[in-house]
Amino acid sequence: MEQEQPRPQKYRDMLFDIGTEEIAHVEMLSIMISRLLDKAPIGDQEEAAKIPILGAALGGSDPKDVIYAGMNPQHEIVSGQGAEAKDSMGVAWNGNFVTSSGNLLADFRWNLMAESQGNLQVSRLYEMTGDTGVRKMLAFNLARDIMHQNQWQAAIEEVQADGLHEFQIPSPFPLDRVMLSLAYTFWNCSQGTESERGRWAHGPTPDGNAEFSYLADPKPLSHDTDELSQSDPRLHGTPKQPMPPMSTGPNPVSGEEIPTNVKKDAVAKSSTSLPALRSTGTPPRFREARPTRNRR
Ligand SMILES: [Fe+2]
Repeated sequence: MEQEQPRPQKYRDMLFDIGTEEIAHVEMLSIMISRLLDKAPIGDQEEAAKIPILGAALGGSDPKDVIYAGMNPQHEIVSGQGAEAKDSMGVAWNGNFVTSSGNLLADFRWNLMAESQGNLQVSRLYEMTGDTGVRKMLAFNLARDIMHQNQWQAAIEEVQADGLHEFQIPSPFPLDRVMLSLAYTFWNCSQGTESERGRWAHGPTPDGNAEFSYLADPKPLSHDTDELSQSDPRLHGTPKQPMPPMSTGPNPVSGEEIPTNVKKDAVAKSSTSLPALRSTGTPPRFREARPTRNRR
């Protein structure tokens, strides 16, 4: 008899499925751009600029401006007309685009947002072109990302139904460590109380644990107005009061050498490592150090 897969396996497999599909979307878009640019007459840019809103985005209605704005010399010189892993403004993709928190529910919600934003942008691109080939491809992309929005919403529900997470993140987390008395009240922190009419101010909360309430006139929860202490002078920020120039450790400019009987890494450690600054206030080494006077 076939054994049931362990629960996390289906999530792992699903992530591999969609990851592969999304890479294929990048490939489709790259080929689309290449085909559009291949033998594209310069007049096309001028025509595009005649659409007022597109013309404004392209850099104006003067054909020369539009052509310059639409040019990306690197596309010719660096990538030989191939697609580059950069955004439309030439900013290279980077690791910040990867969201992998280790918490499936948090990531699934992020993915639902990303699919929503992605499809919003595809729909805008759709409106910007009359090219039927491009529109056909974008109609495909719109369909797949409707699937993906549904997919992530289903995954959000499933990971909770499987008992791996509750509605709120973090979970599981012992709620007796949370100020739950503050957890279900909507705070009116702006002028106007129209927000009271929303679902977020009344009725059962989505986590099923409470009822929403509305606080029309929130008051400060603390009277703590203590200022932070002065930061370490070796960070050379603006002091609270005028103070003499200050530095610690050997000064090679005035001929101070690292003594041969001191290990080099010991010196590096004492002159560069800053103790926990904010929490302990003035570090002991600084208090003991003699100020280095400015010689001028
Ligand atoms: Fe997608």
